[in-house]
Amino acid sequence: MIPNDFIQTLLSRVDIVDVIERYVPLKKAGANFAACCPFHNEKSPSFTVSPTKQFYHCFGCGAHGTAIGFLIEHAGMTFPEAVEQLAQQVGLAVPRTAPGGEHAGPRKDELSHLSDLLDAAATYYKNQLRATPRAIEYLKQRGLTGEIAARFRLGYAPDGWQNLEAAVTNYADKAMETAGLVITGEGGKRYDRFRDRIMFPITDAQGRIIGFGGRVLDRGEPKYLNSPETPLFVKGRELYGLFQARHAVRDAGQVIVVEGYMDAVALSQQGVEYVVATLGTATTGDHVKKLFRQAERIVFCFDGDAAGQRAAWRALENALPSLTDGKEAAFLFLPEEHDPDSYVREFGRAAFEALLGRAMPLSDYFIQELERRHPPATAEGRAALVTAAKPYFEALAAPVLRMLLKKRLAETVGFSETEIAPLLPAAIHKPLLPPANGAEPARRGGPARGSRAPALQAQAAAGPYLAIIRYLLQRPSLAASFVEAYPGHPSREARALETLLVHLREHGEPTLTTGPLVEALQNTEFAAIYQRTSRLIADMGDTGEDEEAFLDALTQYRVFERKFSQHQELSRLNDDQH
Ligand code: UTP
Ligand code: MN
Repeated sequence: MIPNDFIQTLLSRVDIVDVIERYVPLKKAGANFAACCPFHNEKSPSFTVSPTKQFYHCFGCGAHGTAIGFLIEHAGMTFPEAVEQLAQQVGLAVPRTAPGGEHAGPRKDELSHLSDLLDAAATYYKNQLRATPRAIEYLKQRGLTGEIAARFRLGYAPDGWQNLEAAVTNYADKAMETAGLVITGEGGKRYDRFRDRIMFPITDAQGRIIGFGGRVLDRGEPKYLNSPETPLFVKGRELYGLFQARHAVRDAGQVIVVEGYMDAVALSQQGVEYVVATLGTATTGDHVKKLFRQAERIVFCFDGDAAGQRAAWRALENALPSLTDGKEAAFLFLPEEHDPDSYVREFGRAAFEALLGRAMPLSDYFIQELERRHPPATAEGRAALVTAAKPYFEALAAPVLRMLLKKRLAETVGFSETEIAPLLPAAIHKPLLPPANGAEPARRGGPARGSRAPALQAQAAAGPYLAIIRYLLQRPSLAASFVEAYPGHPSREARALETLLVHLREHGEPTLTTGPLVEALQNTEFAAIYQRTSRLIADMGDTGEDEEAFLDALTQYRVFERKFSQHQELSRLNDDQH
């Protein structure tokens, strides 16, 4: 809703040191400022604020961000609130429509209008809950406190057809329908979608309401009614409770995915706050990517019944392409008669967290489930098992995990690893982005045939790529002098460099500096590859005019590229001779 170039202007005017100092006493430490981290408990300061990079980073807990990020994370503001406040401080007016784009303006206005309507409805529902003893009683009987109801902004939509007339200025507004609050019946009569239901507002990651789930209090069908997909609300992308869970997720380093609204709320109330729920859909690849950006470990915890089993397998299928070594997915299967809500209410937090610790690693679940589907007792069964495993190996990119699974699979069917290797496909890396500046397409997956150059690929690659990435992060304006991105191998550094360059070419201003760049990178492929962007930046010295070192790295990189393509050429010749 706020144009990106305004964010950049704003961040270039604001001084992050002033902003943070209002909340946290800062001490000068060399070129930076230091303090005890406001995001976790500590005795010696590992929280640093860099005035040159306009960026904060905690070496203890990894918290990081720009002035905007700090206000969101620390002061609990929403994104627009943070921007508004900073803009006021430096005397800028926040533009409300996007400049330039012909369609951008009205669309952004429309979105924020929808958002306002949803917010007004949520406030109305919340007040109605206060005034309806029967609804309060229902929540109490499900074990919820007023505090948790407030945290999740729970509400109640009263019975009746046009109650929302009292909540908004214009009930007839077409946007009420677009927002999913109102339905137009056959005779053209308009009425509220949600009636006599407990209301669960669904928010985006910034805490803005984008839809609702509504549960019947006693009987009635359907049990849960959800907002339809709207311009604001795309179910496969959003996760219920992510906004409320974000701090706990970061502290725990893990996140639990459950199926139900009540499961998420109940766990949170019991103190297991690092929990999100899918929204009546399967876990998607987008969900998984989003979560792995914030946590190292995802634990899927579905109901103990058959539907829960199906949901778990779908989650595995969607998690595979997003797994990287160092990330972990696990599955927690509850006793059949339980869902997470009933389990945690009966046995409590400690029991639930003990189960979490013992959740089944994805690799175990994968093999176990394949074995269940294709019992390897016969030769036919073993053949079917290997065949069934193939597509999953295609989807799986993480090299170490791949090797482990291959080993496990070999054991399961009684093959040696060498015997099974030719039966399993190589990972198919879909190109993430088109090659930059007409450069020849990158040969992903390394040397096309076989894997003859693994050592050279993996190790030698990282150094120069990483060096270049670091310089570009620090001095984005240098991207202009670096035009020939050509990752000739599959290292993540090469992929990261490529995506960073594409991003800088498309969005980089010659004046771009680190702070705004970090803000802009947040939801890009680069951030997905480089979980530790912030660490990368914080580790760097404030180099100032360090172009020479950059040029050094460039030279190294070119030498490496030349060696690499010679090597590829050689392996190709070798292959041809076989
Ligand atoms: P469940 O039927 O497992 O219900 O649906 P639950 O979460 O345990 O609900 P409670 O405990 O009876 O309140 C799991 C999730 O599936 C979606 C909702 O997101 C729900 O939270 N769902 C379920 C629907 O969208 N519609 C329905 O009719 C039922
Ligand atoms: Mn339930």
